[in-house]
Amino acid sequence: MPTQSFLELSDVPEPMFQRLLERSLWHRHNRTYLQTARDRTLGMLFFNPSLRTRTSMELAAQQLGALSTTIIPGQGTWGFAWEEGVPMLGEASEHIKEAIGVLSRYVDAIGVRAFATRVDYEADRSDRALKTIAQFSRVPVINLESAFYHPCQGLADASVMMDHFKGDVSRKKFVLAWCYHPRPLPMAVPHSALLSAARLGMDVTVAAPAGFALDEQVMARAAGIASQHGGSLSETTDMDEAMDGAHVVYAKAWAGRAAYTSADEEAALRHSHEAWRVTENRMKRTDRGVFMHCLPVRRNVVVDDAVLDGNQALHLDQAAYRLHAAKAILEYVWDVLPTST
Ligand code: CP
Repeated sequence: MPTQSFLELSDVPEPMFQRLLERSLWHRHNRTYLQTARDRTLGMLFFNPSLRTRTSMELAAQQLGALSTTIIPGQGTWGFAWEEGVPMLGEASEHIKEAIGVLSRYVDAIGVRAFATRVDYEADRSDRALKTIAQFSRVPVINLESAFYHPCQGLADASVMMDHFKGDVSRKKFVLAWCYHPRPLPMAVPHSALLSAARLGMDVTVAAPAGFALDEQVMARAAGIASQHGGSLSETTDMDEAMDGAHVVYAKAWAGRAAYTSADEEAALRHSHEAWRVTENRMKRTDRGVFMHCLPVRRNVVVDDAVLDGNQALHLDQAAYRLHAAKAILEYVWDVLPTST
């Protein structure tokens, strides 16, 4: 297993975090096609769909001079087995151990998207699929959204806020607003958004209905990071009150914890909160706040057209900054981290 991978942004030491941020902003403002990774290849495994992550990473690699290859497991590849020490008598023809062993002999970094199972909370909390791949890889692994974290999104979000507020983000009010969604979505993006805002020293408020609290260990970590960086973390179940004086409203839907034990109970509870939506009136309570969302977003369910189409919306910039952040991340794993190859 490579000792150095990019699995979670909040694990990156402070000087390296600052470097990632600086490089991401540098790429935003210097759109040259550098050839610094000309001798490199990126391989990516997408166990789940993607528009932004796949495109931004493929283009980032190409614009740095590297090659990239994208694999959709199960579509033209053998099915992978994950369990160890059992006869492979089922549908899966290839063990993940061999698949990653092979891939990491072809490429110089492996990107992985593997969402939450929503079956086993502890397996998701430990990012079991991502960590298993990292264990079998000889090259750095980049988390392209795991069960619990989306560090590529987290870096892009930090970058776009730094640029928007011209570096003056400290103590700005960042509201992570739970929104209704017809499906039980994972917690990776809200966890990473929360941790990034905390790292920037913002005053973070998580607004979510009862039953939709984020992971308590991530919350405790975010509280520690916020306080270390001069900010704060609070929680509320009142969406309207949370909007008061906000500088950033980051909308995101996620499943309640009951999804792991009773999908029906979680769905019933979630459907009872359809009014949790970012509206123009709610945005009026902010301090000329900006609206953020990682995308994809369901219009007029999570957020109204008027907000998305208005001049407070930053969601398309967020998507644009994914490309700049992706370049910074590739430079980080290839030029900064020592690899074990
Ligand atoms: N925000 C994000 O990760 O988008 P995709 O799921 O399209 O990659």
